[in-house]
Amino acid sequence: MSDNDILVEVRDLKVHFPIRRGVFFDRTVGHVKAVDGVDLSIPRGKTYGLVGESGCGKSTLGRALLQLTPPTAGEVKFDGVELTTLPAGKLRTMRRRMQMIFQDPMSSLDPRQNVESILTEGLQTHGIGANRDDRRRIIGETLDAVGLPKWALSRYPHEFSGGQRQRIGIARAVVLGPELIVADEPVSALDVSIQAQVVNLLDELQESLGLTYLVIAHDLAVVRHISDIVGVMYLGALVEEAPSDRLYTEPLHPYTRALMSAVPVPDPDVEDRRERILLAGDLPSPANPPSGCRFHTRCPWAQPTRCADERPELRQIGASRVACHWAEQIAAGELRPHEVTAKITRPEGEGEEPGVVSAPSEPGSYV
Ligand SMILES: Nc1ncnc2c1ncn2[C@@H]1O[C@H](COP(=O)(O)OP(=O)(O)O)[C@@H](O)[C@H]1O
Ligand code: SF4
Ligand SMILES: [Mg+2]
Repeated sequence: MSDNDILVEVRDLKVHFPIRRGVFFDRTVGHVKAVDGVDLSIPRGKTYGLVGESGCGKSTLGRALLQLTPPTAGEVKFDGVELTTLPAGKLRTMRRRMQMIFQDPMSSLDPRQNVESILTEGLQTHGIGANRDDRRRIIGETLDAVGLPKWALSRYPHEFSGGQRQRIGIARAVVLGPELIVADEPVSALDVSIQAQVVNLLDELQESLGLTYLVIAHDLAVVRHISDIVGVMYLGALVEEAPSDRLYTEPLHPYTRALMSAVPVPDPDVEDRRERILLAGDLPSPANPPSGCRFHTRCPWAQPTRCADERPELRQIGASRVACHWAEQIAAGELRPHEVTAKITRPEGEGEEPGVVSAPSEPGSYV
């Protein structure tokens, strides 16, 4: 694949949030390593699905990619332009080309603005449309594209159902004519019956507008059908990445196998034979991640050598990239899973004075 086919390229991206203590929270006593060394590429016009348990760093990665959260280290290239060192003015111009859709449209849409004003705001911010009529035309086309009626323009977010509100959130992104959309849990807050409609809409818009997506979800089933590539995150890093079909039919990393084993299969015969792996314990704290392979405290295949003291690199195995020392042996059935007892992990220094982590910034204010 040539460089021109890659719209987004992320290299060794890190986002570490300082944990502060002291009367004025003036001492930094550690860091939450929310994203800790991620490499990924998103081809133009394709969908990259990012999955993993809640708290593993998906949203932080999405926000850092768009420079909404400043990365601690690493590179993010968008259409060949390095974003992490881009001056603020140039970054603002770039922003039109990279938009975000949020999980809960109610909290990301201003309740005091009607739909017309929500959509006009972005156009004005980015100087799109020659005049008022031109902006009306663009807005009209966008409403059609997302399946909202014209009368929606004079209504307010609370007057719509959850699914329609998400259409407004999508319209707000699409109206600016972006190339990339980061959709952070776009259907997680919706009824299952509505989820498919919104996923289909995203699919149609990708087709008609040539969009590139990063779709974030904690639910593997949601990303399966729309993703060309799926990346699985665990504690701030990718543990496996593969073409979508490959990941679902032949998961190689123990964590992916565990996630996959929790997804029911419609075919009853396959369902009966399905491997079920229950993970022991909770996600360890990203402020004090386990040594070596970060999954070793919960991994049913963990071995006495290497797993606890050597961090596995993401390496190419066939069409997949996998971060496990023993992936080949596990795939060949040479290593068998064993029981794992849950360990209590604590953030470093816990039990002394309480620490605070700097407050998350509001996602809603982004146009
Ligand atoms: N602004 C922030 N300040 C401090 N810690 C944060 C901030 N945002 C997220 N975190 C922490 O980073 C980790 C990853 O969070 P997040 O990216 O939201 O995960 P996910 O989206 O996968 O649920 C969590 O431990 C979370 O508490
Ligand atoms: S490196 Fe070891 S602990 Fe990590 S996933 Fe592979 S087998 Fe499990
Ligand atoms: Mg999230």
